[in-house]
Amino acid sequence: MSESASLIIGEKTYELPIITGTEGEKAIDISKLRDASGYITLDSGYKNTGATKSAITFLDGEEGILKYRGYGIEELAEKSTFLEVAYLLIYGDLPNQSQLNSFQSDISRHTLVHEDMKKFFDGFPSKSHPMGQLSSLICSLSSFYPESLNSKQTPEEQNLTIIKLFAKMTTVVSWIYKKSLGHPIIYPQNNLDYVSNFLNMTFGQRTEVIEIDPVIVKAMNVLFILHADHEQNCSTSTVRMVGSSDCNLYASISAGISALWGPLHGGANQAVIEMLEQIKNDGGDTDKWINKAKDKNDDFRLMGFGHRVYKNFDPRAKIIKKACDEILEKLGINDPVLEIAKKLESAALNDPYFVERKLYPNVDFYSGIIYRALGFPTDMFTVLFALGRLPGWIAQWKEMRENKEPIGRPRQIFTGEVIREYVDLKNR
Ligand code: CMC
Repeated sequence: MSESASLIIGEKTYELPIITGTEGEKAIDISKLRDASGYITLDSGYKNTGATKSAITFLDGEEGILKYRGYGIEELAEKSTFLEVAYLLIYGDLPNQSQLNSFQSDISRHTLVHEDMKKFFDGFPSKSHPMGQLSSLICSLSSFYPESLNSKQTPEEQNLTIIKLFAKMTTVVSWIYKKSLGHPIIYPQNNLDYVSNFLNMTFGQRTEVIEIDPVIVKAMNVLFILHADHEQNCSTSTVRMVGSSDCNLYASISAGISALWGPLHGGANQAVIEMLEQIKNDGGDTDKWINKAKDKNDDFRLMGFGHRVYKNFDPRAKIIKKACDEILEKLGINDPVLEIAKKLESAALNDPYFVERKLYPNVDFYSGIIYRALGFPTDMFTVLFALGRLPGWIAQWKEMRENKEPIGRPRQIFTGEVIREYVDLKNR
């Protein structure tokens, strides 16, 4: 007999089906509850609400486990490239050599963006935030590829839209960076792999050929893999929500980029470095800042600490911390903010406030230090997060379409005025 839960409201009992996931996690299916009882459930911030069934990413916050399509994040970060992981997320399996070759070649063939898009860059103020530019530019791709607006695209047509987006993202991101410096843009090179091509467009110069350091290529691959998907987080839920209205892929991803921008989500990697700089400039007294974070009358939070779902440790943070030590050593960089970060981490991990609330360093605590060591300016950090997260967003959007999910439309409990007497303007 299938499992169910009983809900008693007044005199009546309602039987609610229990859904079990492949990892044994349980959910009470309340989709028919309102029809049967007139009641809805209320869960601000969706802290306890499953919005979808998904076969892409599994996360166990209590045990600190993260898997993409059944593969542990640790093994993927060690053995795969970002492109293989992107293929895995989007198509469901790790590619064999010939699948990988054709994925790479399809992408290489679509990295150029329409020449008219270059005019957009002239319109942005020179100091405008790269995330605002990225969100607008990705949305504008829908104007250049109007076939993407057809919500009834065949799988082949849809795949071409996906390839175009994935291919053009690196070009758009590196051009945003080049424009911020006032440097000439660098065009993609088809002989380079995905990550090297991105680094070449970002750090290359028209005046000379640059050597791309394999240590940096490896580090970027690892960082992108660690950010590639994270089940139903704020930006991914946004992508699915926007896409559920049959909105095109480019606009859906653009909405996800906007959601990622906030400092409580992807914007935390920028906020962490700004915080570490602030602590350093203030004399480096980490205890003072820990106390500020604990003070309920002070709205300062320790950026890069805490996570909605990880209540043990963030498995990505473990890998990134190791990568951070390695890369700084290999590049011979001695970053004073790393010392502040280490002091903060050890003070917080031993402080009852953080221990009781299960607040641990998250992925963003160390990613900014690596990006900085590689030469990226602070306001590009969240853009790099978006670049890494892109295959996850695409995979989730595609899954939502394939599962023919209904339009997302939460309900509410109304708390406003019930009825008011209308007063004419002259009498108000
Ligand atoms: N510093 C100090 N106190 C904190 C922090 C922090 N970073 N995070 C949570 N708390 C406290 C919070 O004040 C609350 O205390 P109390 O129970 O006494 O009221 C308790 O811990 C629970 O916090 P919450 O805000 O209810 O937890 P949440 O699940 O709603 O928020 C979070 C999760 C990530 C938004 C939050 O921990 C935070 O603001 N962290 C800093 C921003 C950050 O690093 N974000 C990146 C997340 S990882 C990258 C990504 O995937 O987006």
